[in-house]
Amino acid sequence: MKLVNFRFQVMAALLCFCYMYVNVIAEVKNLQSKRTYIIRMDKSNMPASFDDHLQWYDSSLKSVSESAGMLYTYNNVIHGFSTRLTPEEAESLEKQQGILSVLPEMVYELHTTRTPEFLGLGKSDAVLPEFDLVSEVVVGVLDTGVWPELKSFDDKGLGPTPSTWKGECETGKNFNSSSCNRKLIGARFFSQGYEAAFGPIDETMESKSPRDDDGHGTHTSTTAAGSAVSGASLFGYATGKARGMATQARVAAYKVCWLGGCFGSDIIAAMDKAVEDGVNVISMSIGGGLFDYYRDTVAIGAFTATAHGILVSCSAGNDGPSQGSLSNVAPWITTVGAGTLDRDFPAYVTLGNGKNYSGASLYHGNALSDSLMPLVYAGNVSNSTSGFLCMSGTLIPAKVSGKIVICDRGGNSRVEKGVEVKHAGGLGMILANTELYGEELIADSHILATAAMGQSSAAAIKNYAFSDPKPVATIASGRTRLGVEPSPVVAAFSSRGPNPVTPEVLKPDVIAPGLNILAGWTGAAGPTGLEDDSRRVTFNIISGTSMSCPHVSGLAALLKAAHSDWSPGAIRSALMTTAYTKYKNGKTILDVSTGQPSTPLDYGAGYVNPVAALDPGLVYDTTVEDYLGFLCALNYSSSQIKLATNRDFTCDPSKKYSLGDLNYPSLCGAGVTSIVKYTRTLTNVAPPATYKVSISSETPSVNILVEPQSLNFSEQYEKKSYTVTFTATSMPSGTTSFAHLEWSSRKHVVGSPIAFSWT
Ligand SMILES: *[C@@H]1O[C@H](CO)[C@@H](O)[C@H](O)[C@H]1NC(C)=O
Ligand SMILES: *[C@@H]1O[C@H](CO)[C@@H](O)[C@H](O)[C@H]1NC(C)=O
Ligand SMILES: *[C@@H]1O[C@H](CO)[C@@H](O)[C@H](O)[C@H]1NC(C)=O
Ligand SMILES: *[C@@H]1O[C@H](CO)[C@@H](O)[C@H](O)[C@H]1NC(C)=O
Ligand SMILES: *[C@@H]1O[C@H](CO)[C@@H](O)[C@H](O)[C@H]1NC(C)=O
Ligand SMILES: *[C@@H]1O[C@H](CO)[C@@H](O)[C@H](O)[C@H]1NC(C)=O
Repeated sequence: MKLVNFRFQVMAALLCFCYMYVNVIAEVKNLQSKRTYIIRMDKSNMPASFDDHLQWYDSSLKSVSESAGMLYTYNNVIHGFSTRLTPEEAESLEKQQGILSVLPEMVYELHTTRTPEFLGLGKSDAVLPEFDLVSEVVVGVLDTGVWPELKSFDDKGLGPTPSTWKGECETGKNFNSSSCNRKLIGARFFSQGYEAAFGPIDETMESKSPRDDDGHGTHTSTTAAGSAVSGASLFGYATGKARGMATQARVAAYKVCWLGGCFGSDIIAAMDKAVEDGVNVISMSIGGGLFDYYRDTVAIGAFTATAHGILVSCSAGNDGPSQGSLSNVAPWITTVGAGTLDRDFPAYVTLGNGKNYSGASLYHGNALSDSLMPLVYAGNVSNSTSGFLCMSGTLIPAKVSGKIVICDRGGNSRVEKGVEVKHAGGLGMILANTELYGEELIADSHILATAAMGQSSAAAIKNYAFSDPKPVATIASGRTRLGVEPSPVVAAFSSRGPNPVTPEVLKPDVIAPGLNILAGWTGAAGPTGLEDDSRRVTFNIISGTSMSCPHVSGLAALLKAAHSDWSPGAIRSALMTTAYTKYKNGKTILDVSTGQPSTPLDYGAGYVNPVAALDPGLVYDTTVEDYLGFLCALNYSSSQIKLATNRDFTCDPSKKYSLGDLNYPSLCGAGVTSIVKYTRTLTNVAPPATYKVSISSETPSVNILVEPQSLNFSEQYEKKSYTVTFTATSMPSGTTSFAHLEWSSRKHVVGSPIAFSWT
């Protein structure tokens, strides 16, 4: 049985021992042959012989297994329960009446100061929604829990919890009712699926409570809605006032991720509760395998949450720059990729030949002396073929001691390479990007003097090390630099389109800050997350789409505060149609992995622009009915639709459903024929105005016609439709063409990316 891995989408600097645990789980499974299943019940068709649905669930379960108990029952995002069964028991349960499906649980593996200003929030507080409105909004974060003592969870100035709030502060190890306050208004933990598969939690390793022993959940929740903290920094880096995107919004923490990963039965239980508790936004920096939407736990939970008016924001994944590397791609999820800020942390390598190269580091400790030290390439001082990556136990101490070692990026985590160099007696490390990572510079709080180098500098340094008979170098670091240009750029690690499940829906939706992000941290682990890192910090700087996702979750909370009647679709539309794709000089945002202009497959609609998003003019208000029509266009059967959406819906056989007609803020065609026609509907959310369309196309071989060419809105919430017809004059197969569509009034510009791939 293959385990499907769901993981936190933080870059590999952290959480390095989870892989080891995943192997352990596989062994446990083989021994006991029972595993966790999520059972979906047809609740609306309960046999009349039962008084209530729990009795019915229990009786169905008992008919196949006397001993099995329910781990959870689910009542909101799905109807049913989870339990431990043998494959034979699962098979016979599936055949019973009233059972919609019996799905094996998936194991989901572990995937600021500057950001508000860079996003334009610091400068123009005047346009932000009022304090009291924002404080009515609750962001639910599914992650590793929280470290509640941080100043980022200070509730000063906040009024009573919103009257609609029904959540709780669950207590447990190192977490009591006074851990919650008017900022952290809810905290729950979900460990039954994890413990059923893994055995009881080892309380010496992790707290069986909402307490975050890892750091990831504290970082994501404070990014979304942390209170403002003056004088924040990591070792003096990124000093300033740290604040979440929606400083006055409330946080509810749902701990679903443990040392062994994030278990599907726990995740769906947390989403079920979050809906019942009354959160307005769900933030999930968790990712995993790709499935049809009716088999994907996160997509299923997100559908019902969306139908309840909750925006679900998820990380796009860190598997870039490969094409088609996205996760969390369902059209009702807001999928967030990562870009940079205009801030970096320069470190310099000076060589014996006098050349000086610039890289990045967050190293804090004894600096290397100014004198030059011997320089070696790891691949030359190792007894292993993977030595060039500085994998654990591969460097030969006699050849490394007292030297600076060049290690290539990849294979293991960046900070682990430093551990290996230090163990072998090395004094410093140059972390060399290969072609895959281009010029992307991720700063880490390494345990020895280190400079991360872009590919071209790394190549020059290696060239020197290979050609000079006595190569020497030194490393200097310790600064924070602002106003870096060009910025933003698309992060190399940010997962890219096309959408691997439904290529007709462009993903990611947007990109947001995800590189070198400062936010709150746990007191139970050091900034590198390494077991022997004994340093403790209240803020940490880390990178990943795990970090960009909560930026968008917090911005969605601001939009919800400003426009309490907007649907999740309208909020996402506002973020997408106002996102930008060009620098002030008119050039397209670059992809740091290639140094070339990026495309909608990299950035979706573009880099978020929250101030513009507060007043978008028009929105594509994608509704639940639109999503149901989309599933009909995918030819889902009624039972598949019920599994995906938790509702009864039959596609109208007389209606022609088309994937291209999903009322989405972007337009995407895959394998298109020579003429295709899409329909879109805009809703006016601003004073009356007339909008005119314009198209900028980079591909002369595709002719794009919009009808009508102008839309005249005379009242609020008025809806108007238009069609776009694409005619290809020549179709170079295997290529993708891009264009940009804009509806502009005197005051607003409503933009949509267009992508077409020809097969
Ligand atoms: C629990 O509550 C007491 C006060 O009742 C407090 O002193 C203590 O620090 C709290 N927190 C934890 C994590 O135990
Ligand atoms: C290397 O260049 C940087 C940036 O120009 C400069 O700040 C630093 O002092 C230089 N180092 C040496 C040793 O020349
Ligand atoms: C070190 O490794 C590089 C790259 O593998 C190789 O080109 C070079 O010849 C090696 N140098 C020595 C001294 O072995
Ligand atoms: C490789 O070197 C390491 C470190 O010196 C040593 O522990 C290991 O036994 C060596 N392995 C081989 C195969 O020589
Ligand atoms: C759905 O079925 C129709 C009719 O068989 C077919 O033309 C269409 O390509 C199918 N759509 C998808 C997404 O498979
Ligand atoms: C738009 O509609 C309004 C109200 O119906 C009308 O007064 C105005 O002339 C129209 N403008 C255009 C450009 O059609």
